Amino acid sequence: MILVISSSLHPGSRSRIMARACTSRLQELATAVTLFDLAESPLPLCDGATAYGDSNVQQLSGLVENADAILLASPVYNYDVNSAAKNAVELTGRAWTGKIVGMMLAAGGQGSYMSAMGLANSLMLDFRCLIVPRFIYATGESFEGEALADESIQERVHLLIEDTLRLVNGLKDSSLQPES
Ligand SMILES: Cc1cc2nc3c(=O)[nH]c(=O)nc-3n(C[C@H](O)[C@H](O)[C@H](O)COP(=O)(O)O)c2cc1C
Repeated sequence: MILVISSSLHPGSRSRIMARACTSRLQELATAVTLFDLAESPLPLCDGATAYGDSNVQQLSGLVENADAILLASPVYNYDVNSAAKNAVELTGRAWTGKIVGMMLAAGGQGSYMSAMGLANSLMLDFRCLIVPRFIYATGESFEGEALADESIQERVHLLIEDTLRLVNGLKDSSLQPES
């Protein structure tokens, strides 16, 4: 199963449009996929204590644990993913161990294209995640209303999924499967 997490809390979110496009593409490819939208399933702020007992947190932890790969769609906020995305990782921590992780970012301008690297580094160093070396970074012109604007951004979504599935299938057949 591929887990797609949409972390924007904005009602008209663009990164959510990418998350939905990824989900549809995976369904077209007959790949099991679950979309977890933080705007629909709110999480408490991580306090390192009682928040882990929240039912949405437990549901998300289970989904992360069972996922072959996780595709995170996030807004860029202050040259980083948004705090809801970081909070979701804080709350589900060890469930990410050894996971393949792909990322797609919606941003306001062209200059913040390295904004996924802080989270990518922490996932690599903390949980030995394998980061898909193809990020989607999209600004306003890639969207039209509630849809992707054109073939270029659709193609980038397809390529992210292709590369993610190649890694998932390659690792399944390989003794290189990361240890937990
Ligand atoms: C608090 C805040 C911080 C932002 N910081 C950045 C930034 O550092 N770089 C950037 O390119 N865009 C920035 N933006 C613009 C958002 O990335 C842009 O609106 C994007 O579409 C948000 O994703 P969403 O539509 O999925 O919610 C920021 C927006 C907000 C509200």
